[in-house]
Amino acid sequence: MKTQEHTLKVTVYDSVKELAPADNNLVQEAKKSLGSSYSPYSNFKVGAAALLEDGRIITGSNQENSSFGVTICAERVLLSVYSQLTPKSNIKTIAITYQGNLGKDDTPVSPCGICRQSLSEVENIQKTPIRVIMCGQTGKVWNIASANGLLPLAFDNSFLLDS
Ligand code: THU
Repeated sequence: MKTQEHTLKVTVYDSVKELAPADNNLVQEAKKSLGSSYSPYSNFKVGAAALLEDGRIITGSNQENSSFGVTICAERVLLSVYSQLTPKSNIKTIAITYQGNLGKDDTPVSPCGICRQSLSEVENIQKTPIRVIMCGQTGKVWNIASANGLLPLAFDNSFLLDS
């Protein structure tokens, strides 16, 4: 018997001002995409932006539905936009931000479980890490080197496909 440990390294910045210019720019794009959030039920807007290896930036925002379970998170809207792109280019970095419904949005937001699974699939397929930057409107910023770090012991396609 042995005990395994699965750790996640998070780089914490005091504010977006500490970020490299390209990362700060990606956060600003994620913030801009809050404008297309359709969130009349939660009033919780989420915006995500991805920087591709070829320099393109794409965005997504949460899209709610009166049948609540139909709602699509910003991260999965973003990945759907990504899936439509030709030619493909790997995702280097994703920035995720939000505008809260409680008058406070100074704590970084991190993806929900379904979005973690979706991000993990894309990262595994492209075979290069997707760095994830998480923040609110103000306050600290979290950075992790690989989306898979958010989902230890993930279910993946190795169970379904011969390698
Ligand atoms: N939401 C996201 O867009 N991304 C997440 O990772 C967490 C939650 C959205 C879904 C819903 O529209 C609202 O936030 C409240 O749950």
